[in-house]
Amino acid sequence: MNRFPKLFTGLVLGVLIQAQSASAADASAVERGRYLVNTILACGNCHTPKAADGQPIAGKELSGAGLSFNAPFFAGAASNITPDRETGIGNWNDDELKRAITQGLRPDHGRLASVPLAPMMWVAFYKAMTPGDLNAVVAYLRSVPAVRHEVPLSEYKRQMPRQPYPDAEKGFTEVDQQSPVRRGAYLVTIGHCMECHTPAKDGKTLYEQALGKGGKRYGPGLVKGYPADWSGSVSRNITSHPEAGIGRWTDAEIKRAITQGISRDGHPLKPPMGFSWYAGLKDADLDAIVAWLRTLPALE
Ligand code: HEC
Ligand code: HEC
Repeated sequence: MNRFPKLFTGLVLGVLIQAQSASAADASAVERGRYLVNTILACGNCHTPKAADGQPIAGKELSGAGLSFNAPFFAGAASNITPDRETGIGNWNDDELKRAITQGLRPDHGRLASVPLAPMMWVAFYKAMTPGDLNAVVAYLRSVPAVRHEVPLSEYKRQMPRQPYPDAEKGFTEVDQQSPVRRGAYLVTIGHCMECHTPAKDGKTLYEQALGKGGKRYGPGLVKGYPADWSGSVSRNITSHPEAGIGRWTDAEIKRAITQGISRDGHPLKPPMGFSWYAGLKDADLDAIVAWLRTLPALE
């Protein structure tokens, strides 16, 4: 007769313990997502609106139009990716969000239903995220405050260029996280460093021939959202070449350039690289990035 209450208490306890460990797992996913989104992924570099001085506006995180673009094939701003139901992604489920981030496909409902995302949303790199990291990013996006902020509808002018990134195609595993060089390769991939640091010819970035050689031009004509005095910049050679690249730089000098935007000779580096986001990278992750950069064959 008194077996039932015991069994019942056991059941309730079991469910409670399970619920508790599930919410602990959720909390650690949100923390991991917060770390990735606000450091190496720098989603806010495009998605968080900026004040006139180029600084992100507090309380408006990820609510859209941090940067807007005007390319021959596309004109539009980075979307509101807060959980607001009308102007953000509050009505998207987790799978829809993951598909947008890793494949560039919008769900078949809501604003611009089923219209593919422009390539400035770097899905060819984000697809390399491990399932755990992708879950973490989604958990974090769900946890940020919903901000009502209507971003104008994007305009698609002609066929959009898309190009795969070799390391993202090969993919990464959780085991890769344990070797510094492999973890560095992973971080550099999801951070799309080489998209900027590799030259392009006829609209194609030369990943196979000139990885890390630099020479891509950025100017205010294509991108809006940086301080008015930004006149553009050219990405640098970050291969191991002793003169043209960073072969002679110390680890500390490379880390200072990435996290503080200061070049080896002390001069300040300009946007669009997200130095202030990278400032939050853990030292072990920065070491991993440097370890991988050192493996890049020297290019003149
Ligand atoms: C280089 C700028 C840039 C970065 C960095 C960036 N995005 Fe985007 N993102 C965009 C642009 C531009 C669009 C809108 C594309 C369009 O309208 O076709 C977009 C669209 C999206 C959408 C679709 C939302 C909608 O309503 O259509 C999601 C989701 C998204 N981004 C998530 C992210 C996440 C998560 C990150 C970080 C991993 C990120 N983005 C990093 C530029 C960026
Ligand atoms: C959105 C494009 C972009 C991304 C993404 C980017 N960079 Fe850069 N990076 C640049 C540009 C442009 C410069 C040169 C800025 C200048 O000269 O003022 C630069 C400068 C540097 C420098 C300093 C080189 C020198 O000679 O002063 C290093 C090192 C560097 N980047 C490494 C990285 C790493 C590592 C990543 C990924 C974590 C990364 N960059 C991501 C565009 C980018």
